[in-house]
Amino acid sequence: MPPAIRITDVTLRDGLQNEPRLVSTTDKADLARTLLAVGFDEIELTSFVSARWIPQLGDATDLCAMIAPDVAALGTPPLLSALVPNEKGMQALLATNETARREHNLTNLLSKASVFTAASETFAQKNTNASIAQTLERFVPVIALAREAGLQVRAYVSCVIACPFEGPIAPAQVADVCKRLADLGVDEIDLGDTIGAGTPETVTAAVRAAQGVTDLPITLHLHDTFGRAVECIFAALDLAIASFDASAAGLGGCPYASTPDKRAPGNVATSLLAGALEARGCTLSIDRAALDAAESHARRTVTRARAAQEPAP
Ligand code: HMG
Ligand code: MG
Repeated sequence: MPPAIRITDVTLRDGLQNEPRLVSTTDKADLARTLLAVGFDEIELTSFVSARWIPQLGDATDLCAMIAPDVAALGTPPLLSALVPNEKGMQALLATNETARREHNLTNLLSKASVFTAASETFAQKNTNASIAQTLERFVPVIALAREAGLQVRAYVSCVIACPFEGPIAPAQVADVCKRLADLGVDEIDLGDTIGAGTPETVTAAVRAAQGVTDLPITLHLHDTFGRAVECIFAALDLAIASFDASAAGLGGCPYASTPDKRAPGNVATSLLAGALEARGCTLSIDRAALDAAESHARRTVTRARAAQEPAP
């Protein structure tokens, strides 16, 4: 039997965090509604990070409040998650859940917190103003609070193939960070090819490195710079990876992975991922017509935001 594959939609988080112009909260909520109709296993809604670092997602609490009634109206909503860098972010996530519980009777609007670190010291420093070890220390109270509230914890490891500042990353570094995350008690590891440098060979090495140190479920988070994402997806399927992230229309990128001469690349497009998985006979939960509609909606949303805020000629 071909495996059932989990798809996490990261459009509203990774997809929008690198947009040159702010997308309004109302437009994000409209986009969220189209994404909710696709049938994703999981939707990463936003980030509870510093708005000084990521102004594009400074409306995390407002966005959650805006779509909570839509989520409450769904019979079986997808699992919703959000990025959290530290205890302050976790407290904001928990307050959001508390409001949704009080106002819409939702047990947990957000039932997963996603922490993030890297296999590259330089990238960890640029992205979180902390060493890898310091990011892991910050996760301790986050994980404890998640346990108390009955939430799951995903842990991203960025730059598992290459770092925009350090170059190629050794699989041993990936293994080391994954082991330390597993020891902290996270529920899932998400391997991020932050700058889309992966090839089937390097993705295989990174996945094997992670699988060598943990039995936790592993998700693959590809950015698609050189058009090799599909080959990388096939390589990951051969290693029994059954969970992938993607973004509508391939939007996205981490602003702190950009260098003066290269802007961070977008995520693998969800339609490309879905096509690759279907070609391999995998079972997907998504409605392809609803996905097409959501991808068109995402394109229109960012195009409108860019045009509306372009300086007058
Ligand atoms: P810092 O400046 O070192 O933090 O940033 P701090 O603790 O010194 O606090 C400075 C200010 O930020 C204070 O405010 C804090 O209250 C505030 P002030 O007193 O100056 O007004 N602050 C916060 N505000 C809101 N929410 C919070 C929070 N924490 C502190 N949670 C920090 C450290 C981690 C906060 C910062 O570096 C940050 O927010 N970084 C986020 C960067 C980010 O979101 N990058 C993109 C996501 S990662 C990614 O895209 C990769 C991924 O897709 C996988 C892949 O592709 O590889 C996941
Ligand atoms: Mg990313």
